[in-house]
Amino acid sequence: MSVERTLSIIKPDAVAANRIGAIIGRLEDAGLRVVGQRMVQLTREQAEAFYVVHRERPFYQDLVAFMTSGPVVVQVLEGEHAIERNREVMGATDPAKAEPGTIRADFASNIEENAVHGSDSTETAEQEIAFFFAGGGICTRTR
Ligand code: CMP
Repeated sequence: MSVERTLSIIKPDAVAANRIGAIIGRLEDAGLRVVGQRMVQLTREQAEAFYVVHRERPFYQDLVAFMTSGPVVVQVLEGEHAIERNREVMGATDPAKAEPGTIRADFASNIEENAVHGSDSTETAEQEIAFFFAGGGICTRTR
């Protein structure tokens, strides 16, 4: 058994398109459980800090503008190999390259407005969960 937690974000494009429920349905159908969740309007400072690893990339300022363009849903997902499982269900960063049936293939417009974010490693998951949930808000699934 390798039960993990990962951070998932439903991005402003998918929230605006009213796809929150459809996306959570895909995640739940894949065996992932939501153990923490809230809607947040990110500030510029928060978006810059969350994506600081990309600060030298040419798309950084556009990414920050996009991520602050409307509210997002931040959530902690739990399950067997949750980090990898979430990434499988999301599909490739570029929806044009995402496997059919994945969230990004079905709900994303392009590589920038790509519907969802998911942590890419155990270390990143810990950092990203702490970024949004250090103050609490994660529940143990008792049933
Ligand atoms: P995400 O998985 O949240 O991680 C970084 C984000 O940067 C990515 O999804 C996209 O929303 C955005 N992005 C924009 N352009 C690119 C690019 N060329 N390569 C990777 N990510 C990009």
